[in-house]
Amino acid sequence: MTRTWNPELASREIEALTHLEGALLPVLHRLQEVFGYIPAEAVTLAASALNLSRAEVHGVVSFYHDFRTEAPARLVVRLCQAEACQAAGARAAAAALMGRLKTEFMKVAPDGSVVVEPVYCLGLCAAAPAALIGDRLLAALDGASLCEAVEAAL
Ligand code: FES
Repeated sequence: MTRTWNPELASREIEALTHLEGALLPVLHRLQEVFGYIPAEAVTLAASALNLSRAEVHGVVSFYHDFRTEAPARLVVRLCQAEACQAAGARAAAAALMGRLKTEFMKVAPDGSVVVEPVYCLGLCAAAPAALIGDRLLAALDGASLCEAVEAAL
């Protein structure tokens, strides 16, 4: 369970790790573990505590794809975009979902509910297009059934 952003808690978490050699990565992992993401304010706090520039810390955060810079969505939808799914209509299904959510791949929907991530094969090529909605694997989707499944999962 992640906590809402709290700069005092973030400072305490950072201070607890500054003694480590190469403390930046452990600090960033800890901040993401505690808050679920690394907001811009955390970059500033980490830079100050570790005597680094904000650009240096930001560079590390943006280099590693595991680090998030925005609050995580309540639901993660992974849509297969590999060849078999594309041939069966995955792009149209994705477009329908993105239109409904008013978002795009890898961007949390404006209401914070969903983030849609592309994946490249879920092992259901024979029943494409496939998606993993939360921990539920679904196949033979089209735009309407995909949107319906995502709404049901919220
Ligand atoms: S290509 Fe989409 S499940 Fe394999």
